[in-house]
Amino acid sequence: MDLILFGPAGAGKGTQAKFLVERFALPQVSTGDMMRAERASGSELGHKFDEYMSKGLLVPDELVFELLEKGLDAAGSKGVIFDGFPRTVPQAKVLDEVLAKRGRKMDHVVSMEVPLSDIVDRITGRRTCQGCGQVYHVRYNPPPADGKCASCGGSELIQRKDDTEEVVTRRFEEYKAKTEPVLGYYQAKGLATSIEGVGDLDEVYKRIKAAIGQ
Ligand code: AP5
Repeated sequence: MDLILFGPAGAGKGTQAKFLVERFALPQVSTGDMMRAERASGSELGHKFDEYMSKGLLVPDELVFELLEKGLDAAGSKGVIFDGFPRTVPQAKVLDEVLAKRGRKMDHVVSMEVPLSDIVDRITGRRTCQGCGQVYHVRYNPPPADGKCASCGGSELIQRKDDTEEVVTRRFEEYKAKTEPVLGYYQAKGLATSIEGVGDLDEVYKRIKAAIGQ
């Protein structure tokens, strides 16, 4: 199964992707995580990513394509939970081509609908594990009292540098202008389902499973 979790920053894509990875034993491909790893490696490509990410702008498509084949090669052939990719119509078209070359096609696109006011609240309260990428929220999914990750056994939790109100507002504008049209692309193919992304984590998870017929 190839599935896209679609939605703006803070919609809960990464949080729900982790549940789906566990349930369906499929790998997650997050271009945002791949870009942060590249940035942490100190490479020239990582430096280029950072120029856009730190301002809340989308990274240009030609740089994103450098990551796609790498991500799919590492993910194997069973299918992928895509989180935060594709984000432009050209990216969606290239993804279709790359999957077709591998004898696959997109199966489901689940769009998680969350209003901007919740997004700002979620993003400014998010804390992310530096070691394993597990996400917490200071109120909605609080980390352990010692401030260390419970999932990987003790790495530091940080606030991502693009998780400020100013940058997330810019990310939302980018989403509206460049990413939302991707939904129309998949709606025209009959693949997209929208769900309410507000509510308990478990409730949202059930909505996603219902959207994909599980
Ligand atoms: P990326 O890392 O992909 O970030 P994003 O899409 O902006 O999404 P987030 O990770 O911020 O949010 P999420 O939906 O995963 O929410 P989460 O589950 O963490 O991209 C970062 C940047 O990289 C982009 O701005 C761009 O520059 C670049 N980039 C990446 N991919 C690109 C591409 N393909 N093309 C071009 N540029 C690209 O949840 C958020 C918080 O809410 C957490 O604290 C969580 O605990 C909490 N939460 C989750 N669900 C709930 C709930 N139901 N109720 C209450 N709180 C909740």
